[in-house]
Amino acid sequence: MSHLRSLYIQGTTTGAGNDISLALVNRSGQVLSAAWAGPSDLEGAALDGLPQSETAEVIDITPRRCRLNTRDGPSLLCVTMPLADVNEDLAFGRDAVAIVVAEPEASLSDVVGDLMPRLLSSGFIGIAAALVLGFLLSRSVAAPLRGIAGAARNVARGNFRSRVPVTGPNEVRDLAANFNRMTEEVQRGQQTLRDFLANISHELKTPLTSIRGFSQAMLDGTIDDQQGIERSARIISNESGRVLRLVEELLDLSRIESGQISMAHDELDLDELFQHLSELFALRSEEKDIVLDISRRNEYPVAGDFDRLEQVLNNLLDNAFDHTPEGGTIRLISRDLQPGVVQVTVTDTGEGIASEDVPHLFERFYRATDHRNGGSRKGHGLGLAISREIVRAHGGEIWATSEVGRGTTFVFTLPTWAPAESPASGR
Ligand SMILES: Nc1ncnc2c1ncn2[C@@H]1O[C@H](COP(=O)(O)OP(=O)(O)OP(=O)(O)O)[C@@H](O)[C@H]1O
Ligand SMILES: [Mg+2]
Repeated sequence: MSHLRSLYIQGTTTGAGNDISLALVNRSGQVLSAAWAGPSDLEGAALDGLPQSETAEVIDITPRRCRLNTRDGPSLLCVTMPLADVNEDLAFGRDAVAIVVAEPEASLSDVVGDLMPRLLSSGFIGIAAALVLGFLLSRSVAAPLRGIAGAARNVARGNFRSRVPVTGPNEVRDLAANFNRMTEEVQRGQQTLRDFLANISHELKTPLTSIRGFSQAMLDGTIDDQQGIERSARIISNESGRVLRLVEELLDLSRIESGQISMAHDELDLDELFQHLSELFALRSEEKDIVLDISRRNEYPVAGDFDRLEQVLNNLLDNAFDHTPEGGTIRLISRDLQPGVVQVTVTDTGEGIASEDVPHLFERFYRATDHRNGGSRKGHGLGLAISREIVRAHGGEIWATSEVGRGTTFVFTLPTWAPAESPASGR
C-alpha cells in the first residue's frame, strides 16, 4: 500500500491528472481491499463483466482497457497492467496480478468543454477561408460580368467597336468570347448595310445626274436643235432604263434572299434551255467573232426553274462575252458530277480576274477592275449576287476560278430531278 501511495503521489506531482486512482486487482478482477490510492473510493470495486478465467488471461498477456465498477460511485475507465514479477510486499501476498490505473468517465459537458475551443477555432478558420474564397470568386466572376454589361451598354448606344477581355472562369470566358463574336457580327452587318446604301446612292447618282442635266438643258434652251434634243432624249431614256433595271435587280435580289420568290422545281431537260441560249447569243457571237460552244453532256434531267436558270446562264454568258476579246471561245457544258448532282460550267478565254477579286465576285455591287475598259463599268455588279441566290435556292452552289490573261470558269451545281419530288418543294 505504501508503494501505491508513493506511486500515486509521484504521479500527481509529476503532472498526471488529480482524478487518477491506482489499484491492485486479483485474478477475479476484484480490487484488493486497501490496495488502492487516489480520489475515488475503490473499496470493493471490480473490473466489469470479465469472467475469472478471461480476466486472468487478459491480465496475463498485455495492458488492456477496462471498466472498473465501484460499489457506490460511477464506474471508472481504466487500464490494467499485468504484474509479471510480483513484489511480495506490493502484491499483497501474491493475490495481486495486475495494477489498474483508473479515471472517472468524462461527462458530456466535459467533452464539449474540451472540444469547444478546437471546434470554435476550426469554425473560425472555415468561415474565414469561405469568406476569402467567396471574395476571390465574386471578384473573378463579377468584374468580367461588369465589363460585359458595360460593353453591352456601349453596343446599345451604337458603339460597335466595344470588345471585352476574355478572362475569368470558363463560363465567363465563354460568355465574353460569344459577346465579342456577336458584336463583330453586328458591326459587320452595320458595315454591310452602310456599304449597300452607299453603293445604291452611287449607282443612282450617275444616271440621275445625267437625266437632270439633259432635261435641264432642254428646258432652258441650251439644247434647242433637233439633233441635240433627240440625242438628249435618247440619253435620258437609257439612263432611266438603267435606274429602273437597278431597282428591279435589287428588288429581285431581296425577294429571292428573303424566300418571297419560290423556285419551281420542274423536270428540266437542259437541251431546251441550251438551245434557247444559243439562239439568244448567236448574233453577239457572230458580231464579236467568238466561238460559242454549247454542249449538254449530263444524262439525267435536272430539277429547276427554267426562267431563273436562264437568268443565271444569261448573266454568266453576258459577262463572258463582255470580258472575252474577239477570236476567243466561250464554252457552256453540263455533265453528271455524281449521283444526284449535275455540274454546269461556263468557260471563257477572256482577260481573267485577279486572284484578289475572285473571292468577292458574288458580293453585291462588286465589280473587278476592268483593265480593258480603263475602269469603265457597264453593269451594277449585281448579276453574280443574284445568280448565287438563285443557284442556292435550287440547292446548289456556285464558284469561280480564273487566271489573268487565260480566262475564267464559273461552275455551279444543280440537283437531278427525282420523280418523287413534290413540284412545290422550292424555297
Ligand atoms: N467572265 C468574266 N471575266 C472577267 N471578269 C468577270 C467575268 N464575269 C464577271 N466578271 C467580273 O465580275 C464582276 C461582277 O459581275 P456581275 O455579273 O455580278 O456584275 P456586272 O456584270 O458588272 O453587272 P450586272 O451583271 O449587274 O449587269 C464584273 O463587273 C466583272 O468585273
Ligand atoms: Mg453581269
